[in-house]
Amino acid sequence: MAPKLSHLLLAILVIFSIQTFEGRARTLKPEHRQSLSSFLQKLEGVQKGQAAEGLLDLKKYLKKFGYYPSDATLTSSDFDDHLELALRAYQKYFRLNVTGKLDSSTTQLMMIPRCGVPDIINPPPATEPTSTDSKNKKFHMVAHYAFGSKKWPPSKYALTYKFGPGVHVFDLKTLRSVCADAFQKWAEVTSFTFKEATDGASADLVIAFYSGDHGDGDPFDGPGKILAHAFFPQDGRLHYDADENWSTDPAMDQYDLESVSVHEIGHLLGLQHSNNNESIMYPSIHIGRKKRDLAQDDIDGIHALYPN
Ligand SMILES: *[C@@H]1O[C@H](CO)[C@@H](O)[C@H](O)[C@H]1NC(C)=O
Ligand SMILES: *[C@@H]1O[C@H](CO)[C@@H](O)[C@H](O)[C@H]1NC(C)=O
Ligand SMILES: *[C@@H]1O[C@H](CO)[C@@H](O)[C@H](O)[C@H]1NC(C)=O
Ligand SMILES: [Zn+2]
Ligand SMILES: [Zn+2]
Repeated sequence: MAPKLSHLLLAILVIFSIQTFEGRARTLKPEHRQSLSSFLQKLEGVQKGQAAEGLLDLKKYLKKFGYYPSDATLTSSDFDDHLELALRAYQKYFRLNVTGKLDSSTTQLMMIPRCGVPDIINPPPATEPTSTDSKNKKFHMVAHYAFGSKKWPPSKYALTYKFGPGVHVFDLKTLRSVCADAFQKWAEVTSFTFKEATDGASADLVIAFYSGDHGDGDPFDGPGKILAHAFFPQDGRLHYDADENWSTDPAMDQYDLESVSVHEIGHLLGLQHSNNNESIMYPSIHIGRKKRDLAQDDIDGIHALYPN
């Protein structure tokens, strides 16, 4: 009885999140009208060799998250060999069946809103594929977490943060409390301390909500799809998409601010995405879901990046 009920609830949650996303997308400005989920639904089942409206947007989506070679140029709306390779890379990362096809498990996963940071950072150019590819494969089989060379030096383990200008979504008291809790999760398992900068002082980390294009080359996209992004050390910027329906205690049609904050702080410290779906550093989160506690994979990742 219990497992069936939970499956049913999960199914309802997924359908609900897709429908709310659709509903909101329709109210957007015309240039945003073709939402990701509406074109993905139309693309499901499109075969290699066919052309379809929306395939170019799908390619851009896959390129944004690192599934195309760094030197790839995307022009056509054809389902070509390169798209097949990119889909295979995406399916391998998310541990789906690696079919290279637009099957429903692939399009459904793409519809779940996610962080704007790429899954594959600095993908290699198409001309030198094999060595890096096999290294990545091996790495992901050993551990799910990932990080690069960017990290804070020991002289910067006492980090300060402040709330920057931007869109006013929450009052300062609420933001302070949510972010303090989110920072605490990482402070508990590392040597980092996090303290709000005193008024007017500069800070290592700057947290703000923005809508659309906000000047860092990575515009937000209205409700759904991309929820937030943060920069790797020692940049310190953490941005939430102000157009989401945020909450500190989410209903079924809201995003949990603390869950997303814990994830983005992981990027501020230097962690990349993890393909372990239990991990905080997994790229996507279902609407309405609270996922606030670090998983063992996150703790292993941050300890590997900052060995004591
Ligand atoms: C992968 O394929 C198998 C066999 O067709 C199927 O039973 C399974 O549900 C598929 N898994 C996913 C994640 O789609
Ligand atoms: C945000 O979520 C709340 C709670 O479910 C809901 O009442 C409200 O209409 C939503 N706002 C928007 C803009 O979707
Ligand atoms: C993670 O994926 C596994 C296998 O696909 C699934 O059984 C499990 O429920 C997922 N866990 C979460 C938290 O989504
Ligand atoms: Zn992320
Ligand atoms: Zn930004």
